[in-house]
Amino acid sequence: MTNNTTSISNTFKLGGDLNINRLGYGAMRLSGQPGNFGAYPDWEGGEQLLRRAVELKVNFIDTAEAYGAGFNEEIIASALHPYKQDLVIATKGGINKPAPDKILADASPAFLRSGVEGSLQRLKLEQIDLYQLHRPDPKVPFAESIGALKELRDEGKIRHLGLSNVTVSQIEEARKIVPIVSVQNKFSISDRSMENVLDYCTQNNIAFIPHGSLGAHPLKQGAPLANAEGVIADIATKKGAKPNQIALAWLLHRAPNIILIPGTTTIAHLEENMTASSITLTKDEINLLNQI
Ligand SMILES: NC(=O)c1ccc[n+]([C@@H]2O[C@H](COP(=O)([O-])OP(=O)(O)OC[C@H]3O[C@@H](n4cnc5c(N)ncnc54)[C@H](OP(=O)(O)O)[C@@H]3O)[C@@H](O)[C@H]2O)c1
Repeated sequence: MTNNTTSISNTFKLGGDLNINRLGYGAMRLSGQPGNFGAYPDWEGGEQLLRRAVELKVNFIDTAEAYGAGFNEEIIASALHPYKQDLVIATKGGINKPAPDKILADASPAFLRSGVEGSLQRLKLEQIDLYQLHRPDPKVPFAESIGALKELRDEGKIRHLGLSNVTVSQIEEARKIVPIVSVQNKFSISDRSMENVLDYCTQNNIAFIPHGSLGAHPLKQGAPLANAEGVIADIATKKGAKPNQIALAWLLHRAPNIILIPGTTTIAHLEENMTASSITLTKDEINLLNQI
């Protein structure tokens, strides 16, 4: 290896026991629109896409009770159950989504418990490998939400616990109560405002799962980084790649604990995104991308 080369691992041991390919899939958009609400209208197409993801070696799929208000978990089970032994389905709870334009935080112990029971049923699982608190609920003391999740973990309904949309001090507070194996916050090459959370997770061997890794707004169609210009586009052209692939490759190089969950509704985009793990960036290229 010369001085300008880099090498990355394509896998991460989540929670110390789940061997994850770092390029996973975010299923949120396989839901009714607008608002990621209700059943995905092209149900069969969605099932085909999920099966293609698994064929392409995706073994980490991110979903949530709130996506499609339950239907997103159902399409995953409908496409993939009985599951391959190494497939990890990560879901989330703590958001009540009664209508396309309503997103109500509810991380009360009662709502979390009924959420876990519902996810187990919809996903046809006896235990959820990774259950993530979707976001802290300002109406409920944080320690109370985490305590409720710890109880569900102690009962064996959850294998590992993760957090989403949290600060470093919230991660520290949660870790005093129960081990936390992952954090899912917004992060991409164009939005690094959560870099301190990423660095904390890297230092503590906690998986960091960026959402919006292609720069998308969760309720809007389109990925700004797929059409990025400037340095990203220049490096993409040099490597015969697309800008979105460079944006994902940068994340894979950024830290070894990053697991990607780019979202898409098309098999063509899925296939394109999956090739990001075969793109090696040189140190010079990484330096240029870091300066954007
Ligand atoms: N924890 C949270 O609060 C939270 C919030 C938001 C999202 N998430 C999770 O993160 C996952 C990803 O988030 P996201 O879907 O909002 O954002 P994203 O991954 O940044 O981007 C998805 C958007 O990019 C487009 N796209 C994907 N691949 C493309 C390609 N190769 N070329 C051109 N366009 C492409 C998709 O459109 P097409 O369908 O046309 O490909 C879609 O509109 C979600 O599925 C969900 O699991 C979590």
